[in-house]
Amino acid sequence: MSNALENVKASGLELKALAKTFGSHPALHPTTLAFPAGRFTTILGPSGCGKSTTLMLIAGIESPTSGTVLLDGKDITHEPIGKRHIGIVFQDYALFPNMTVAQNIVYGLKAQKASDAQCARRLEQMLELTKLKGLQHRYPSELSGGQQQRVAIARALAPHPRLLLLDEPLSALDAWSRASIGAQLKAIQQAAGVTTIMVTHDRHEALSLADFVVVMNAGRVEQAASPVEIYDTPASEFVAAFVGGMNTVRISSINDGAPTGIRYSDVRLARATEASLSQPFTFVGQVEDLEFMGDAVRVTVLLNDFKTKITADALRARTDAEVFQKSALIAVELPASAWRTWSRQ
Ligand SMILES: Nc1ncnc2c1ncn2[C@@H]1O[C@H](COP(=O)(O)OP(=O)(O)OP(=O)(O)O)[C@@H](O)[C@H]1O
Ligand SMILES: [Mg+2]
Repeated sequence: MSNALENVKASGLELKALAKTFGSHPALHPTTLAFPAGRFTTILGPSGCGKSTTLMLIAGIESPTSGTVLLDGKDITHEPIGKRHIGIVFQDYALFPNMTVAQNIVYGLKAQKASDAQCARRLEQMLELTKLKGLQHRYPSELSGGQQQRVAIARALAPHPRLLLLDEPLSALDAWSRASIGAQLKAIQQAAGVTTIMVTHDRHEALSLADFVVVMNAGRVEQAASPVEIYDTPASEFVAAFVGGMNTVRISSINDGAPTGIRYSDVRLARATEASLSQPFTFVGQVEDLEFMGDAVRVTVLLNDFKTKITADALRARTDAEVFQKSALIAVELPASAWRTWSRQ
């Protein structure tokens, strides 16, 4: 597909010591961060960690307590929202109910005093990009949630924004639609080439859609990196726990008791035999729970210190079936090659 934002170069966004305090509550501690131009960034974190605040500071809906927002190297911190040329999509779509799909999509262009011919051309491009052809004469109430969401995206993209900001745009959809609209959103973003930032608290969505992931906690950025880096080398125990799939153990024989991460898939389970139990960093454990996941099984084991719980994802074909019996005593190897430690806790 051709670049639907012809002649528009993807914009780079930078935050310099950007901070926001509501009363005495620091919603965003001074944050310095660069968002890659033309890429899809997700901001991930628990409720109340400052995701929406960050987005609203970028959009100009809120003004910061201190710090600057730079778009293409230019300070836009005090630029009014209407002059920033930023497309925004919120969770509840907020389409104009008394306007058709077509009227919704060209709304921003009309406000910019684009000619009828320009509006018609852009409408065609947007309908094609968001696969809404044939629906342009319908009203929002005559569309599914996913179709409404695509109209909201088309409306935000139509006026050639320099940035596209989305705050939990998929959260009102069911799981199946979420995955499908998420993939479509990613395809639309790639075709349009617009620098995009999407807030989500869904870790799977954050990692699967993004080129770049920002993990936030309590008003701070814990890590900003590619999805692979975030998953493979979490910068803190918080990131590891939040992104998931990793045990954190505190066992005196491992790293002198310092918190140590071990991926579910790196734990090795075996029948408890003299040979298996004589391996280094191998413990006796009792199977507490099993979750069938197709080719793999997720096993929860309580080690014989009676306090360390280990979760392991084991391939059924590669592991002795006896290991998967509830209450069975098994050998749990936490191989040293898989240990991860964090400089920050
Ligand atoms: N207008 C406001 N006045 C006072 N406090 C606010 C305001 N907006 C946000 N906050 C506080 O700032 C913190 C960050 O809020 P924010 O909306 O950015 O969180 P979030 O990460 O988007 O959370 P969620 O996932 O629940 O949407 C919260 O503690 C919130 O209560
Ligand atoms: Mg929010």
